[in-house]
Amino acid sequence: MATTATPTTPTTPEVARYCASCGRAVDAFLPGPGGKRPDAACPRCGSLERHRFLSVLLDGMAPYLATARVVLDIAPSKQTVAHLRRHVQGHYLRVDFDPSADRRAVDVQASVTDLPLPDRSVDLLLCFHVLEHVPDDRAAMRELSRVLAGGGVGFVQVPWRPHTETDEDPAAPEEERVRRFGQADHVRYYGRDFEDRLRAEGLDPVRLTPRAVLSPDLVRRWGLLPDEVVWLVRPAEAGARAPLGDAVLPEGAGRPTALVALGDYAARHPGLRSDLDRAKSRFEGAVERLEAVRGEVVDLTARLREAEARARRAEKRAGKWERAYRELAAQPPIRLARALRRRVARVVSR
Ligand SMILES: C[S@@+](CC[C@H](N)C(=O)[O-])C[C@H]1O[C@@H](n2cnc3c(N)ncnc32)[C@H](O)[C@@H]1O
Ligand SMILES: [Zn+2]
Repeated sequence: MATTATPTTPTTPEVARYCASCGRAVDAFLPGPGGKRPDAACPRCGSLERHRFLSVLLDGMAPYLATARVVLDIAPSKQTVAHLRRHVQGHYLRVDFDPSADRRAVDVQASVTDLPLPDRSVDLLLCFHVLEHVPDDRAAMRELSRVLAGGGVGFVQVPWRPHTETDEDPAAPEEERVRRFGQADHVRYYGRDFEDRLRAEGLDPVRLTPRAVLSPDLVRRWGLLPDEVVWLVRPAEAGARAPLGDAVLPEGAGRPTALVALGDYAARHPGLRSDLDRAKSRFEGAVERLEAVRGEVVDLTARLREAEARARRAEKRAGKWERAYRELAAQPPIRLARALRRRVARVVSR
């Protein structure tokens, strides 16, 4: 009976997860604060999903960041600081109202409701998980809108429930705030009206999610929440938009072309970063092995030299003995003894 070979499906080896904040491959992400979410925290730099998504967005904005004159980071997280330091060539200004609370490194202590900056002076601003702490969030939004330059953009994020109205009460006692807003220092939980609030204060929001800008595979491997929204905000005033805004964020595109390009590029090269990390560790392993082999070669060479020296000494001694033997063999009594021995042997053999 004819046998058929079982077809083998080529399998792609599982590529390690990748942290866009610290730029390193990791085996797995750790559970988030309070063990609430699996796959949340980077074991290397501590980034959470939101920090990593922001890093992806900032990577997508790299050419823009390089030309930004002023970047404003409100309540900077350490992962963002490291990331921005790599990209920003202009002024990078870190601000917080109460930096001592989280031992945050800042350049200026100020409130987002009263920023010590001139109108339209900021090219890029970050305001992640701050507005839900601020009693007068409309004043804060107005300030963001005031300081943003005509072609400037901001990334804003807040805890958000799109299916309910905003629930807020800055006067609520602490216990109630934990229950209603999720944390003792939050004064509200934003709902579906969040974007209207932004618009009312002069900011034009565009929703960005990992699902919209990256392939599902990258969303999983980069440890992102597919539907976690980051709002890209721009000054709503029409004519105020500078050419840069038109180039990077075309009208009607819904999302920045730079990000689309990043997503497409990453989708075409899914294992790029992990491949690089693996190649690097293979290279380091090879260097280690090479060092070990080099040590062995040095050791063997020394032993070879020693053996050669011994051989030369033995040769010298052998030469001496050979000469002595030849001299001895030339002696008449010895020649006679040899001749006798040969004669006896012939007689015995007959
Ligand atoms: C949860 S932390 C956000 C940290 C970081 N952006 C992140 O996403 O991980 C909130 C920060 O907002 C700051 N904050 C609260 N009210 C503020 C205000 N009115 N102006 C500026 N910063 C404020 C707090 O001091 C705190 O550092
Ligand atoms: Zn990391």
